[in-house]
Amino acid sequence: MEINAPQSTDRATLGKPHARIDGPAKVCGTAEFPGDVHPEHMAYGVLVTSPMARGRIVRMDTTAALQGAGVLDILTWRNVGNAVAPIGHMMADGWANSTLRPLASPEIHYAGQIVAVVIAETLEQAQAAAHAIRTGYEAAPHVGERGDPGANAVPLATLREGFEDPHVGDFAAAYATAATTVDARYSTPIQHHNAIELPTTTSVWDGDTLTVYEPTRFVGAARNGLAAQLGIDPAKVRVVAHFIGGHFGSKLALSQHTVLGAIAARRLQRPVQIVVSRADGFTIANHRTETQHAIRLGADADGRFVALSHTAEVATSRFDTFAMEGTDVTTALYACPNIASAERVARVDRNTPGPMRAPPEVPYLFALESAVDELAHALRIDPVELRRRNDTLKNPVTGDPFTTRPLMRCFDAGAAAFGWAARSAEPGATRDGAWLVGHGCAAAARPVKIGAAIVRVTQTADGAVHVETAHHEIGNGLYTLLAMTASERLNVPVGKVRVDLGDTALPAAGISGGSATSTTLVNALAEACRQLLAQPAGADRSVEVAFTPPGSEPSTIDNLRKGHLKLASTPKDKLAWTFGAHFVEIGVHADTREVRIRRHVGAFAAGRILNPLTARSQLLGGMIWGQSAALLEETIVDPRTGAYLNRDLAEYLVPTAADVGAMTAILLEDDDPAVNPEGVKGLGEIGIIGVNAAVANAVFNATGRRVRNLPIRLETLA
Ligand code: MOS
Repeated sequence: MEINAPQSTDRATLGKPHARIDGPAKVCGTAEFPGDVHPEHMAYGVLVTSPMARGRIVRMDTTAALQGAGVLDILTWRNVGNAVAPIGHMMADGWANSTLRPLASPEIHYAGQIVAVVIAETLEQAQAAAHAIRTGYEAAPHVGERGDPGANAVPLATLREGFEDPHVGDFAAAYATAATTVDARYSTPIQHHNAIELPTTTSVWDGDTLTVYEPTRFVGAARNGLAAQLGIDPAKVRVVAHFIGGHFGSKLALSQHTVLGAIAARRLQRPVQIVVSRADGFTIANHRTETQHAIRLGADADGRFVALSHTAEVATSRFDTFAMEGTDVTTALYACPNIASAERVARVDRNTPGPMRAPPEVPYLFALESAVDELAHALRIDPVELRRRNDTLKNPVTGDPFTTRPLMRCFDAGAAAFGWAARSAEPGATRDGAWLVGHGCAAAARPVKIGAAIVRVTQTADGAVHVETAHHEIGNGLYTLLAMTASERLNVPVGKVRVDLGDTALPAAGISGGSATSTTLVNALAEACRQLLAQPAGADRSVEVAFTPPGSEPSTIDNLRKGHLKLASTPKDKLAWTFGAHFVEIGVHADTREVRIRRHVGAFAAGRILNPLTARSQLLGGMIWGQSAALLEETIVDPRTGAYLNRDLAEYLVPTAADVGAMTAILLEDDDPAVNPEGVKGLGEIGIIGVNAAVANAVFNATGRRVRNLPIRLETLA
């Protein structure tokens, strides 16, 4: 689909606000999301999923369902079996968000596992037939959550070759002699992404060529993974996703439903669409694992950290080893000569978790930034001042320097805008009518990541520019950003730039994740524009540039074309991070204990800001998700069945407009020529990090209650 800004005759300038060029298409409903595709003669698929966590199917009767009106086919393990070849996990040089082969056997590994797919002429007929399938299960004992008997946590190092827990100095000795210490445990719950757009897949065969319309954040991985699952040439598979209605870390190619849609379409010789229900989306997509943290933090009498220990435990599935560690950040954020850490992974009978909204930093900094606040209170030192005393220009574990270190500038700008100086340090001292009022702050920090991409730029003699790359628009404003970049660098009106994204027919690009999109794509496109300008003007000209981060392996572009991508941190031997500081004013009702966010200021330093309009929008979105993670979001596991109980947006709570108070996002200068040629750091996720701790710290300031387990709800404070 073609996206351009026909009205605009201005040349865009990076760093100046620019409205989204795809805004009109989205507002008018002409933007084509993958699920909007309805090829002629399309049939509808509905998933049937396991209600229990572990065991096997002992009986499945599809006779009545197959006789239902309009029913065309039912896929089960009996007719799929070995049809799907095994593929690896995306984080381990594969393409899948789960290595469990769909419909391979009657064995059940988690609640929500697909046990059948019903295909019918209409969605309603497929749903009715799904209900008519009679299935008998034999249940086996299951482990529902991290911490349950049988979860048997092991060191991450035993699951991941080469992983070493960060440590330096002698923690135990330094902690034993510290003047003031904090020793506390924190936990965060299971959470689910719940993007507005559900997972969908629409498969269309034309002879032996397959086209799949699917909101995936890595079309290249979906293409190559699907080809491997089906045993066909990747050149025969095309994956299209012009727009994605949010992923927040889900839609990590490939999920279990996609290949089943392709198999159904091949059996029926007609297009098949599967729109996953909200409830099944909880297990088709991955989720944020529950986490637990033990922090011990010791300081001298002046508040200088002398000892820090962080032991963290997460959960993963039985059949995958996926885990994302966060102690690399918590052990590097502040100066401290004696540091110990340990990452542990428990195994549960649930589907494999995945990345979600700044995966490690959100839970890990909740623990560290809560502990820093506890220490500040114990020392009677202002929490901003305590962080200033422990600011560092280098990683205390490795000695590597930060490329820039604007953390305290974030705190100072945020504190000034918030009016932090007027805060009372005494818990429970501030009242506004029936409301106890509290103020809290916390740091945000995240390593910058960058990937590889191939970008093609073509300019015709009339000056019109065409940018093509198989990256994705996930609501982050990539169409706009690439049009702005080409407009500025080629000195043409932004309305003369057409951008094509989200299609494996375009030059290969990587995953929309890790806050690496603008960092990767703007550097790649800027390089392509430089090369284009080196060609003679006035005639048609075109370049295709394969951009790789400095220090990349020679195989990087080959791997990109195969749908594999590892994000990298550059430069080597330096820490390039984005930073932020959150300031939150909270109200806790004295009688009902209702918790309300009244004000929230976030100040961020994230390299060169390319489009302040979409940047601020993204940061505000992140801040709201942070409030949500602190006060609302939690997925409950039913201990009887191991299934998620609150699999809908009525009982899985997310914030509405009425939940969000006054919000300010401040963007600070962060000129970092060392990070990459364009000085771009990416800010997709920095907005959410640390908000949960700032909220919990504000709740303590309001009430004197230290809440160490999220979310913080009315009943928590009763
Ligand atoms: Mo992010 S949850 O790595 O897309």
